[in-house]
Amino acid sequence: MKDGKTLILAIESSCDETSAAVVADGRTVLSNIISSQIEIHTLYGGVVPEIASRHHLENINAVTDRALSEAKVGLDDIDAVAVTMGPGLVGALVIGIAHAKAVALASGKPLIGVNHMQGHISAAYIENEDLEPPFMALVVSGGHTSIVEVTDYNRCDVLGSTRDDAAGEAFDKVARVIGLGYPGGPKIDMISDEGDPGAVEFKRVFLEKGSLDFSFSGIKTQVINYVNSRKQAGREINPADIAAGFQQAVIDVIVTKTVDAAVAGNRDRIVMAGGVASNRHLRAAMEEACGAAGIRLYRPSPVLCTDNAAMIGCAAYYKYIKGEFDGLSLDACPNLEF
Ligand code: KG4
Ligand code: ZN
Repeated sequence: MKDGKTLILAIESSCDETSAAVVADGRTVLSNIISSQIEIHTLYGGVVPEIASRHHLENINAVTDRALSEAKVGLDDIDAVAVTMGPGLVGALVIGIAHAKAVALASGKPLIGVNHMQGHISAAYIENEDLEPPFMALVVSGGHTSIVEVTDYNRCDVLGSTRDDAAGEAFDKVARVIGLGYPGGPKIDMISDEGDPGAVEFKRVFLEKGSLDFSFSGIKTQVINYVNSRKQAGREINPADIAAGFQQAVIDVIVTKTVDAAVAGNRDRIVMAGGVASNRHLRAAMEEACGAAGIRLYRPSPVLCTDNAAMIGCAAYYKYIKGEFDGLSLDACPNLEF
């Protein structure tokens, strides 16, 4: 399918997912192939950067070929090649970038480097034709937790961020402490269905009054201390109750701050983005709080919340129409900010 549309081939390899997608006019996903390495990293209890790089290298050609064939297009039909340039694991990013450069050079198409976090936010455009900036966004992933005001496509102001652990990092660490293993976020999401969120109370950390920053390392320590003190006393722990209590404490803080930010900034729309935004309990709590505050909530489907290349193709489109291209000197920026 081309029909006068702008087609972008997008590549994402910032962590442990090798993904390629073809996106038309920034909003229509023609293909979105995601090759997950979760099973491999589960053996080690977390992502091992060198292993992630090796698997990206092994998979990226096949994943790209599949993205093109599923979209029923060839490289000649593509208008630009987009790739995640950061933030992420440097060894993982360079594989996607080298691959995208090679494809761009061989096909003579322009190259567009995309900020992974802008990509996460852009995922919301895919299923919501009416959505356009400005709006408030909550970005919650394995590496970031931020409230940002999106003022234009690919432009935003960070109003608050985590001062220590990202929310996803806290989910992953707590899951390990209570014996759930990796990947922690989805496991806590599931097991907490069987737990009582009020059985073990964890302190909500709101920081100074009016602050939109977050801190999740304290709650992680609370969980560790609770588990250790139970074990020392020879008492059992109930992982489902701990998971539910921890998750509820994190959700209460995230939801309160995000809705406060939207109300204070006079924004009547909130976009949820990033891997943790696929958490069912967070999605439900945000829906309820936004409903009460008269705010419209945009929640991308779970597959568009976790890492994928379609979101990169979407963000790249808005750089494409502004003529914001990159040269072959494009480099990985592991610590890239918004
Ligand atoms: O956005 P993402 O796929 O990768 C990064 O850019 O970091 O987010 C991954 C993070 C991991 O920490 C993972 O545990 C968390 O998102 N996550 C979840 C859920 N699904 C993924 N956290 C809570 N509940 C979930 N259902
Ligand atoms: Zn991500």
